[in-house]
Amino acid sequence: MQASAGYPIVTLNEFIINRQDEHPEAKGDLSRLLHHIGIAAKIVNKKINKAGLVDILGKAGEVNVQGEDVKKLDVFANDHFMAAIKASGEVCAVASEENQEIITFDEGLSREGHYIVCMDPLDGSSNIEVNVSVGTIFSIYRRLSPGGEQADVSDFLQPGTRQVAAGYVIYGSSTMLVYTTGEGVDGFTLDPGIGEFCLSHARIRTPDTGRIYSINEGNYIHFPLGVKKYIKYCQEIDPETDRPYTSRYIGSLVSDFHRNLLMGGIFIYPQTQAAPKGKLRLIYECNPIAFIAEQANGAASNGTGRTLDEVPVSLHQRVPFYVGSREMMDRVHGFLAEYG
Ligand code: AHG
Ligand code: MN
Ligand code: MN
Repeated sequence: MQASAGYPIVTLNEFIINRQDEHPEAKGDLSRLLHHIGIAAKIVNKKINKAGLVDILGKAGEVNVQGEDVKKLDVFANDHFMAAIKASGEVCAVASEENQEIITFDEGLSREGHYIVCMDPLDGSSNIEVNVSVGTIFSIYRRLSPGGEQADVSDFLQPGTRQVAAGYVIYGSSTMLVYTTGEGVDGFTLDPGIGEFCLSHARIRTPDTGRIYSINEGNYIHFPLGVKKYIKYCQEIDPETDRPYTSRYIGSLVSDFHRNLLMGGIFIYPQTQAAPKGKLRLIYECNPIAFIAEQANGAASNGTGRTLDEVPVSLHQRVPFYVGSREMMDRVHGFLAEYG
């Protein structure tokens, strides 16, 4: 055995504490919250790994606020992340894809909590039954309402630029937690042997350009002309720009984004006739992903404006979403400006 094999290991918790030490003004409350999110991720990961073995694949018999069937794992993930966030004692309220209204924590320490959390507890849930990667997305803001009072929906209607931290967990062939606090993006892979998230992708930077475009081309007929033109551009032969590009689409935002983040690429979910405002949700899908993209050298928009600048008007608001490598984003913006 090599004495140095695998060392030095930096666990997620150690990393969070080291970061906190770099900020003498930090009181440790954000660290505590991130630590609890890491615990929930491990619990949900365990359950997802067993999804094929236990009776958890069927529908839970409810319809969520988006009008979609709620799977049992959606409910499980929602409950566990909610409980972990509450247990941190640092959060006064949570908005989740699975709950129509915000959930406020009104007892004890939580009422004084400085933070609110927005989350998509299980992203890509239609993929679970076929053993394809799913994820969890989270976003953390400072509350606007005074500590000690009950938080309300206006605490959540803040532009993405005000995020204090954001991240996702991808339950894939390995499970990873990727997050940012606005000082770059770091990724941690879960080592199942020791049950710890270990730093595996320090300071992730997405390439300036890439060769992957990710879009549900089944909706092609309904896309805006600018998007149709961009897709045709991706498919043209041009050795100088290494086209045609390659098309990859999993149908799980976290998984599609994660691949493109590491390899370079663009993900697009535009407005369509069926979804005139787009499909993805601003506060708990697009904003956290946009924050991570920007922190990793990428960009994110609704086609015309920066995602993070949009001021939300409602909790479950949908927006068109374009995210990825900067040069590819510039190119698609060019097509949208020209053709609409
Ligand atoms: P969720 O499972 O949280 O409802 O999210 C599903 C989303 C997202 O993960 C993915 O990018 C998108 O739906 C895929 O939509 P299409 O199947 O319409 O392509
Ligand atoms: Mn989702
Ligand atoms: Mn979801």
